[in-house]
Amino acid sequence: MRTVEIGPEALGRGSLILVTPEHPLTSEPKPEELVLAAAGNSEIQMNQTAAALFGHLLRRVQSGNRILAASGYRTFEEQKRIWEETLEKDGLEFTKKYVAKPGHSEHQTGLAVDLAENQGEIDPVCPAFPRSGICQKFRRLAPLFGYIERYLPGKETVTGIGAEPWHFRYVGFPHSVLITEKNMVLEEYMEYLREKTRNGHPLVFPNGRQQIEIFYIEPEQDGYAHAKLPENAPYLVSGTNTGGLVVSLWRNSHDQ
Ligand code: DAL
Ligand code: ZN
Repeated sequence: MRTVEIGPEALGRGSLILVTPEHPLTSEPKPEELVLAAAGNSEIQMNQTAAALFGHLLRRVQSGNRILAASGYRTFEEQKRIWEETLEKDGLEFTKKYVAKPGHSEHQTGLAVDLAENQGEIDPVCPAFPRSGICQKFRRLAPLFGYIERYLPGKETVTGIGAEPWHFRYVGFPHSVLITEKNMVLEEYMEYLREKTRNGHPLVFPNGRQQIEIFYIEPEQDGYAHAKLPENAPYLVSGTNTGGLVVSLWRNSHDQ
């Protein structure tokens, strides 16, 4: 075993960060982490990993030009402009339901993408992305590529946002599969992980001849977290943006 030290800068970064009405973004993406999104409007940027998996997903879905990315990464100023324009046009109740306050939008992470069926005029705030046809095929396959439908109907009181069938969020595999199978939203999954792995036992996701072990850790008082990990096992760390970290560790099933 080896002990890996994780510094405080990791707490607000990574594919699992929660950015919500209660939790503002705490770490801006670096310019070099952003690339052009694969589909539709060529000006749309996304996080590099999220964009790569989005491209693979679109190819798997064979959507051609039937699915467009309507919005990806937004700066604070862009989010502010959308908030103000929607407020002016549609009033406060609608705006709070469908537009995150500036500083609180997942779009500012580069990990979120709004999708539109390529049919006629596209509503910039609530694009049509129906639960049928090619859009539903995308929705069904998205978790295999690390994506979740982020704002589910029926979970509005948990997320603080209205149901948004068009807004997809990259959280990374296998979290995306677990979240979808459990019909959870990201808030519920983070709470579930924290509770489930509190005693030091990981959540185990079987993955063919491998298994992925997932556990939640918290930093010590100096802000540094320590994880005891097996030698040579690849792992990923993501902050939660709420004070903790999630470690995902890949190992061969026969190594137990
Ligand atoms: N529409 C989502 C909530 C956003 O503005 O980030
Ligand atoms: Zn969105």
